[in-house]
Amino acid sequence: MTDQAALASKLETGVSQLRCIACGAVGEEGAKSVRCAQCGDLLEVLYPGWKTSAGARAAGLDAAGLKKLWLQRRTSWNALDESGVWRFREILPALHDWNYVITLCEGNTPVYQLPSCGRAAGVEQLFAKHQGMNPTGSFKDTGMTVAASFARQAGFRWVACASTGNTSASMAAYAARAGMRSLVLIPQGQITWGKLSQALDYGAVTCQLKTDFDGCMRVLDEVVQRMPVYLLNSVNPYRLEGQKTTAIELLERFDWQPPDHIMVPGGNLGNSSAIGKALLEMKELGLITRLPKLSVIQTEGANALVRTMRETGGRELISVHAETMATAIKIGSPASWKKAVRVIETTGGVVEQVSEVEMALAKAEIGADGIGCEPASAVTLAGLKKLVKQGFVRKNETVVLILTGNLLKDPDFTLKFHRGDLFAGTEHEEEAAEVLAPRQRAPMVLDASATAVVKVLEYAEQTDPRK
Ligand code: F0G
Repeated sequence: MTDQAALASKLETGVSQLRCIACGAVGEEGAKSVRCAQCGDLLEVLYPGWKTSAGARAAGLDAAGLKKLWLQRRTSWNALDESGVWRFREILPALHDWNYVITLCEGNTPVYQLPSCGRAAGVEQLFAKHQGMNPTGSFKDTGMTVAASFARQAGFRWVACASTGNTSASMAAYAARAGMRSLVLIPQGQITWGKLSQALDYGAVTCQLKTDFDGCMRVLDEVVQRMPVYLLNSVNPYRLEGQKTTAIELLERFDWQPPDHIMVPGGNLGNSSAIGKALLEMKELGLITRLPKLSVIQTEGANALVRTMRETGGRELISVHAETMATAIKIGSPASWKKAVRVIETTGGVVEQVSEVEMALAKAEIGADGIGCEPASAVTLAGLKKLVKQGFVRKNETVVLILTGNLLKDPDFTLKFHRGDLFAGTEHEEEAAEVLAPRQRAPMVLDASATAVVKVLEYAEQTDPRK
């Protein structure tokens, strides 16, 4: 056995523990409830062997060895190595048998440089880690592969989630791959057709409830208590372990030189918590020497975390009645708020909110860089612009936006934007007409004649805003 193989086999038996974030009680692995049996708060996965860097070394978690091992796996055809999540399995909770893993080759997402968005925001080095390039088109896949595998190992026949659309699409896919059944609760009329059609195609039992996301969550909590189904929302701590790999892949791509800032959209706050946890763990393990600042961006209409931080210093959750066109993050009472507050404070990040018009403009700018994303992801660029103006982000700092969902998740929003209908009849109509018009490219209906097309082409050339 080579040194690297010996390290790998030693590490794959790594021990993890579920612990309550509030009272510290230790949870039972494979239990149906994903909450603390003592106080009902959220659980998190801890790795007691890493407590100190000496402990980490004793557990075989040598930073240089890990970096080499993870890089080597990129040339392997082993299904676990092909996954951008399980490639990093030394810092994930270990399954009793790796055959339980359900993988769709998730992760492995690109990092793009965004030059014109960088100019719009006023920073020289702007990048996007595009989690919308995952198998079901959102970051949810990186967490779902881990949590669904644990559900399979524990022998669950049914898995369930409440969702604004992406979690349900992802869960339905992973459940289908493993022959498990899935139950989806979504707010009626408040998720995009793209996401709904995915859940249907992957065979989920899909219930559109006459309530919002927070209402779906409450109903699901009760269903889970009454029926033998396993909850796969991001309150499930295994989900967050998989989502950590976004940050690990990112740092590997940057040759372990941390960017100065990472911007994440905030909804139920699982993703920001996971990315923050990864940053802290990477520092603990000596994989990086400095922490990037992790900032969370919300829309003004779904700003529970912003209000929680500003009005209570992060001590008490302020729930809101959520209203935003970014349906993915239309959440008023985020479950993982305590975890998110902790990582924002520890990394020195901030929270910011953006208007609907600012979000729509940012989405068009990301599209114009040849990348595209769904509306919720675009809050990151809109938020960055504000943070640059405030002086929190400086011009020469390196910034990474986490784009969470694919452009094709919400074509309706994009079409309405370009047709100029997005804000029609709303209080933002006038502002939108002025700010967004230069970015609008409505499709044109023409006679089937080359002359008509040539005229359009000539006009477009004369009025090209980039000239
Ligand atoms: N971006 C997208 C595209 C999302 O779908 C979500 C959440 C978020 C950002 C926010 O992430 O909740 O971890 O803070 N979507 C969930 C869902 C709620 O049901 O698909 P978060």
